[in-house]
Order: sequence, then C-alpha cells, then structure tokens
Amino acid sequence: MMPIPSLTPRGPGHRFIAYGDCCSGTPGGPHEKIFASLNAVIQRLDPRPEFILFPGDHIFGSIPDADTLRAQWRYFFDHEMAWLDRGAVPIYSTTSNHNTYSPMSEAMFREIFPDIPRNGPPDQLGLSYWVRRGDLLVVAANTSFTGLGGNGHVETAWLDRVLADHADAKHKLVTAHYPVWPVNGYGESPLWRIVPDEGRAFWVVLVRHRVTAYVCSHVIAFDAQAHDGVLQLTTGGAGTIYGPGGFMDGPGEYHHLVEGVLDADGLRCRTLDTTGAVREELHWRAGAGLSLRRLS
Ligand SMILES: [Fe+2]
Repeated sequence: MMPIPSLTPRGPGHRFIAYGDCCSGTPGGPHEKIFASLNAVIQRLDPRPEFILFPGDHIFGSIPDADTLRAQWRYFFDHEMAWLDRGAVPIYSTTSNHNTYSPMSEAMFREIFPDIPRNGPPDQLGLSYWVRRGDLLVVAANTSFTGLGGNGHVETAWLDRVLADHADAKHKLVTAHYPVWPVNGYGESPLWRIVPDEGRAFWVVLVRHRVTAYVCSHVIAFDAQAHDGVLQLTTGGAGTIYGPGGFMDGPGEYHHLVEGVLDADGLRCRTLDTTGAVREELHWRAGAGLSLRRLS
C-alpha cells in the first residue's frame, strides 16, 4: 500500500482522525465495503494518527434484540476494526441514534466500551466522558440520552463544569452525534439536529469556554461552519449510503474521513475519500476565521 504523508503539526500539537456514521457491523453489506476502504486509507497514513474521534453510528443497531446488537458490535471491533491497535491509537466514540436508542442499547454501549472513563454526569456514566491528552481536552457529549428524551437532546451543566475545570487546556474539542446547526438544509429537529433551545444553550457553553471545535456526524456530509467563534465540523461519511433509496433523499456527498491537526496555528483538516485522494482542506483559528478549499 502506498503510504500517504500525514498532516503534521507545526511544532507541538496533535494529529487525529475524525470519521463517523458507517452504520456497519453486518458482514457483507455495502456499508462494510465503504468503511473498509476508508480504514485502508487510514492504514496508509504515515505517521499513524495519535487518536481517532468517532462521533457515532458505528453500527446499524436500532434493533430490540440484545444478542443481535452485541453481534454487530463484536463484528465491528473484532473484524472491521481488527487492524487497529486500540491501545496505541485510542478511539473516542460517542453515543448516537443507531448506537444507543433504548436502555438496553445504552447498557450494551457500556458493556462494549469498558475503558470509557466513568467521569460523565452521574446518570450518563459510560455514555458521556472527558479525556485529557496534555494540552488537549476531548469531551464526548451524549445527544441521544434516553433519560433526557432521546435523540436530539443534550445536557449542559456537566459539560460547563468539565470545561471550567479544564480552562488551562490550550485545545478543546467537544464531540457528539447530532449537529447543533443545520447541515445542507437538514434543520428539522430532533430528526437531524439538537432541538433548538437545547442546542443554543449547548453552544453558549462552547462559546463561553472557547472550545476549538464541535465535531459531530449524523448528516451524511462534510461540513464546517463557524458560529460565535466556535467551529461546527460535521463528518458523516464513513459508509452509510444515502440519496435515493438511502436514508436521506437529497443529493449525496462523497464518503470520507477527516484528518486533523491542532497546533499553535489552530485547527487544520483535510478530507480523504475512499481512494485516499484529498478532496477538501480547512483551516480554522478563532479570531482569524475559517478558510475552506475544495480540491476536487
Ligand atoms: Fe445518526
């Protein structure tokens, strides 16, 4: 496999991948094939990423039967992700509508991810959490908690406290499944985004604590938009098929992963498609603005 030189920070920083929404975990399906092609691209990156953000919909899920759901998770990690040394390159996963849609599937998420730090809100232990990596804080929020009404709802008190406790972090990423701001016109809530009142409250917290970016998924697209000094970065391109006959009726975007670096110059990202070709580049620095370039 031809190596792909990775994006690298200028000076001290962080290198990561963000991809989500493959709805896989089922042998032989079309989602598995697309997801595998993106995983092959990640394996060509040199050097390898330091960590992966996976903002939800790993598996198709959405079923009442626990054994079938467990089998999907097992196939996802034991087969589809078997190439990854998760001890060396951790995956920070989030809940989502296909992952956690009932108390049973929430319990399953806790079972499948025993290493998730139990530092979330008391009623969401193992579903929401934070991780500190030197001068970087990663917070995985939960936009599908059944205790708050399910999909499109989110809490902010714990988030506010965690961000205050880590005010010294130079870089702060918050990740969850549902966008706050409409992507490609998909504005209906809670179908496509967090309900507006809760989304606004959530965003106020991100702005107050100068979060670098909110990384989400759910809408099958790559999208970046800045609001009040915080970037919403949507990456829902890891395999789910949409368009006519799929989950979304509109014109589709290409499947992709996002490669990102954080350094003194802010956040730089590029998308790689299923062949490893670079499709879009992004540079974001609060105060200096957002630049986005489409290459092909
Ligand atoms: Fe979703």
